[in-house]
Amino acid sequence: MARIKKLAPRLIDKIAAGEVVDGPASIVKELVENSIDAGASRIEITLEGGGTRRIRITDDGQGIAAEDLRLAVTSHATSKIRSVDDLFRIDSLGFRGEALASIAAVSHLRIASRAEGEPGAELRVDGGRMGRARGVGLPQGTTLEIGDLFYNVPARREFLRTQRGELRRIVSELKQQALCRPEIHFRVTHEGKTVLEAPHADEPRERLAQLLGRELAEDLGCLPRQEREGITIRGYFSPCDRSRGDSRQQLFFLNNRCIRDVTLLSAVKQAYANLLPPRRHPIVLLWLEIDPSAIDVNVHPRKSEVRFQADRLVFSMVVRSIQDSLRERGLVGDLRLPRYSAAAPTLSAAPPSGGAGEAGEASQPLTLPFGQPGSQEGPGRAPFPTGRFFQLHRRYLVEQSEAGLQLVDPHALHERILYEEIMERFRREPLESQRFLFPLVLEAGPEERLALAERGRPWPSWGFGSSLSRTTRSRSTRLHACSRLAE
Ligand SMILES: Nc1ncnc2c1ncn2[C@@H]1O[C@H](COP(=O)(O)OP(=O)(O)OP(=O)(O)O)[C@@H](O)[C@H]1O
Ligand SMILES: [Mg+2]
Repeated sequence: MARIKKLAPRLIDKIAAGEVVDGPASIVKELVENSIDAGASRIEITLEGGGTRRIRITDDGQGIAAEDLRLAVTSHATSKIRSVDDLFRIDSLGFRGEALASIAAVSHLRIASRAEGEPGAELRVDGGRMGRARGVGLPQGTTLEIGDLFYNVPARREFLRTQRGELRRIVSELKQQALCRPEIHFRVTHEGKTVLEAPHADEPRERLAQLLGRELAEDLGCLPRQEREGITIRGYFSPCDRSRGDSRQQLFFLNNRCIRDVTLLSAVKQAYANLLPPRRHPIVLLWLEIDPSAIDVNVHPRKSEVRFQADRLVFSMVVRSIQDSLRERGLVGDLRLPRYSAAAPTLSAAPPSGGAGEAGEASQPLTLPFGQPGSQEGPGRAPFPTGRFFQLHRRYLVEQSEAGLQLVDPHALHERILYEEIMERFRREPLESQRFLFPLVLEAGPEERLALAERGRPWPSWGFGSSLSRTTRSRSTRLHACSRLAE
């Protein structure tokens, strides 16, 4: 067995850096959090090589005094907490005094800053080796430049994604930060091109439009502010027809810090239970405010998980808030089935005689060209009567089935049939297309824009022609999709 030895300080720094910095996106997160904590009203981020070659961030926040510059990049040095008590009433995003030291340990870092009424100063740190601070002229605020990430830890470079992949992570990270702070102007450029611009927004919904696209932002419902036992919840939710294939658009902010949390994820799942098809996820953005003394933010190296005491109450508040709002917008109906008399317990194609109860008018006989009664007979089984339908609320079809009943939305069924037909034709041959008189304009948020730009001209073989353009009004890209739409 090898003998135990104390690790060298430089190795300790690299191990610590591994916890905080796993790629350019986590660096951008830490730097933006610092700018927000410094009260910045404008944050500019310039990237090269998906952030792996260079990240430059400039803010107009309160800046750092020249004599504190070396401390700023030293481990366990912070202006944000002083005592153990402070740890349990944190109101800033940072508190451990670790981020800059960790980043400096695995990159070339330059920090230049000027606080109000102070001279400006600049300092370079290369792989944890600190240079000398020197005086420079600059406006109030701070600029940080990070070059050649992991240049001294080649093994970690191997784990970096492609430049596009890293850029997408950065934009997704920034989107979350910007959603929390509509009052801050964010601008991100990559290789000289603007990939995200979110000017100061007076209205939270305006910020949603900047980051998610105007069309989606207008479709989202508002979860009105609710307060119980010192916990406040507000947010936005999607109607059921706006679901997605993953839950990445479920974002939770606790005291303006973006967090991942299983309680909140399962509350959203429960609120939409049975309203969405399997494997579809709603879009939900939730802002929670809880007294800092009732939460513990010191539980995750990247501060992205937080423990809170009242998780049961939070769970029920979220479920209730979303369900009430869905119901108010008529997105969930309280389905009241007709009350049948005991003598007529089974469904039949004929309307129940009398006793139709509250939904009497909605229950109508319907003649449909679907299967014939008894057509699904199995060998050696008594014929099971199918093809008997009811219509509910002038919309849903209810059919008796062997396992119970089936509820069909005829509109969705029609769409599905068309979709299957198109897919079938698409599998056989390229689809023909026909030019639209006016292009159909779809708005895309910054993340979708990156994905589209990566693919070039999307879906030509599907019969779609498209082009990307920018508008100054919304400062978001518009996709002139379907200017040639499948016939
Ligand atoms: N953009 C900035 N503007 C003003 N001060 C800054 C800025 N960035 C860093 N600082 C100062 O440098 C200190 C160290 O920053 P660092 O990010 O390393 O630690 P922290 O924010 O205190 O805690 P954490 O490690 O949790 O982020 C901060 O406490 C703050 O005083
Ligand atoms: Mg910090």
